[in-house]
Formats: sequence, structure tokens, C-alpha cells
Amino acid sequence: MKQAHQSESEPLWKDEFSIESAHETIVNRRQFTKFLTLTSLGMFVGNLWILSKTWFDKQSLFPKTVIAKADEVPIGAVKLFRYPTEADPCIMVRTSQDQFVAYSQKCTHLSCPVHYSQKTGQIECPCHEGSFSLHTGEVLKGPPPRPLPRIVLEKKDGLLLAIGIDIQNE
Ligand code: FES
Repeated sequence: MKQAHQSESEPLWKDEFSIESAHETIVNRRQFTKFLTLTSLGMFVGNLWILSKTWFDKQSLFPKTVIAKADEVPIGAVKLFRYPTEADPCIMVRTSQDQFVAYSQKCTHLSCPVHYSQKTGQIECPCHEGSFSLHTGEVLKGPPPRPLPRIVLEKKDGLLLAIGIDIQNE
């Protein structure tokens, strides 16, 4: 009897979907909570992925490139190399038994190639008489507006490797 009454006053789908309207709210809240939980979880996983990708990208930003055998560069001698690509000339100087410094060879003024002067103990640019500190790459004289970008070196198994560029120095 009651069944027949419902069929007349309520739409057909309510008969087939047997959840009372009081419970519909509960179902909707549950669905909403489920939606929020899944969305939060998705955002958390997404952020985690971005964070790990950024970390891995930073790690592999610069290649490791062998420059020379440490013994083959005498104290005070220069070794020219290219890093991180073949289009980036660099200069390395052995300053003592255990110390090596390396910089981009492009002057920060107008990109002339810089060279090491044993006479002054500085890195010099012949184009407009700019000079840089051998030990820090800081500008000592002339028009260059910034220090020379420093190439980060690593000594491993008797080899000298370029492993990065010091961004602070750029
Ligand atoms: S290009 Fe080096 S000082 Fe001008």
C-alpha cells in the first residue's frame, strides 16, 4: 500500500534509488569528505613530485668533466678547457701544490678572452685593461662590471674535474 503511494507522488528514480532524503545529506558529506581527501592527497603527491624533480634537476644541472691530470699542470701553469659546453672557454691556474682555481675565460665586460699574467699574478683582459683577482675572480681594475664566474673543481683519483659553476660569483 505504502509502495503504491510512493510511486504516485515521487519520481520513478527515487523508487529505484532507495536512499531516503535524510540520508542523502550524509552521503553527500561523505562524498565531499572523500573528494577533499583525494584532492589533498593528489596535491601532496604532486608537490612531492615537483620537489624531487627540482632537487634532481639541480643535481644534474652541470656535468662532471675531466680537465687534466693534476700532475701534468705545474705550479703557476695554465690549462685551458671548455665547460660546461664546447662553446664555453675556461681557464684554470695551479696556484700552489694543492690549489687550483678556474674561471670562465669570457671577460664580464665584453667577453674578450682573459689570460693569466705571471708578471702581475692576476687574470687580465687585454681589450680594455680589465683585471681580476686570481684567487677570487673579483674585479680589481677596469670596466668589467662583475667577477668572473668561478668553475667549481674537484680532485679525484689524481684527476681534476669541473663539477659546476659558482652562481654567487656570476
Ligand atoms: S672586454 Fe674585458 S675589459 Fe672590456
